Amino acid sequence: LQNYFKNNGHLQGSGLVQQQHDRFIRLGYPVQDAYGLEVGHGLAILTNTVPAAFWFVLRIFAQPGVLDACHEEVLAHVTSSEDLDGTKFRTLDVAKLKTSCPILLAAFKETLRLHTRGSGARKVMEDHLLDGKYLLKKDAFVVMPSTVQHFDPELWGSDVNDFDISHFYSPPSKSSSSYTKRVKPNPVSFRSFGGGATLCPGRHFVTTEVLTLVAMLMLRFTMNPVSGSWAIPTTEKASSMVIIPPPDEDVEVEITRRKEDEGVKWVWSLSGSDKPIEIAAEDLSGIEMEK
Ligand code: HEM
Repeated sequence: LQNYFKNNGHLQGSGLVQQQHDRFIRLGYPVQDAYGLEVGHGLAILTNTVPAAFWFVLRIFAQPGVLDACHEEVLAHVTSSEDLDGTKFRTLDVAKLKTSCPILLAAFKETLRLHTRGSGARKVMEDHLLDGKYLLKKDAFVVMPSTVQHFDPELWGSDVNDFDISHFYSPPSKSSSSYTKRVKPNPVSFRSFGGGATLCPGRHFVTTEVLTLVAMLMLRFTMNPVSGSWAIPTTEKASSMVIIPPPDEDVEVEITRRKEDEGVKWVWSLSGSDKPIEIAAEDLSGIEMEK
C-alpha cells in the first residue's frame, strides 16, 4: 500500500479510496498512518463480506423450504413491465428486501450466527466489579468471543448447532407458516457485528449488498450441487484474523437460468424507507435490553 499511494495508484482507484486518503492528509495524519489505515478499511470491507455472501448463498440454496419461503417473499417486491418495443423489464425494490422480507433477513442473521468467529476486545480503563462477581482490573483486556453467545443452548435452544431460521423469525400469530414459534432470545445474544461504540458501521451496507445478491440469484437461477447433495465445507484453513472464515474447499454447483428470466432486463429501485434494517440489537427500537 505504501508503494501504491507513493506511486499515486489511488488516483486510478475508487472514489472511496481517493476521498479517504485526501481526508486523512487534510486532517494532518502522518502519511504512514494514512497508508496504514487503508489496510484496516480493506480488511473491514472485503474480508467478511465475501465469505458472508458465500455462506448465505449455500445455506439458503441447501434448504429448499427456506429457499421457497424467501423466493416468495422477494417475488412480492418485483414488478413486471414492458416498453413499446416489447422489451420485458422486471424491477426489484431493494429497500423492501431490508424492511419487508423478515424470513430473508432471519436467514441472513442465522447464517451469520453460525459462521461468525470474531472476538470483541476491550481495555479496562478502571477497576470494575462486573455483575457483582467478576473484578475487571484496570489496564487488563477483556476478550469476548461471539461464539460464546452464538452457541449457548440456554439462549437458542438445544438445536443451537443447526441452521434454523426460527431462531430469528416468529411467524405472525394467525399465519399458517410451518416455522416454529419460539421465544426470541435477548437481542444482544447476536453479536456478529460487535457492539457498543465500535459497532460495525458497515452492517447496513453489507446487508444490502448480500441480500440483493441472494435475491437476484433466487429470482434468476436454480442452483444444485454437482456432487448430488449439499455439504457444509470445513473452515480449518482460515486465518484467525477473519470474523467470518471462508470455506476450505470450493462447492461446485450447476446453475440454470429460470424460464421466467429469459429475455428480461432487470432494474433495481430504492423506494426509500425510514425504517432501519433490524440487524444488530442496537438497531431495534422499543426493545429493552437486559442488563
Ligand atoms: C458480514 C460482514 C461484516 C462483519 C461480520 C463485520 C463485523 C465487524 C465487527 C465484529 C466489528 C468490530 C466491532 C467491535 O469491536 O465491537 C467491525 C468493525 C468495523 N467494520 Fe465491519 N463487518 C462486516 C462488514 C463491514 C463492511 C462492509 C464495512 C465497510 C463498508 C465495515 C466496516 C467496519 C469498520 C470501519 C469497523 C471499525 C469500527 C470502529 O472501530 O469504530 N464492516 N465489523
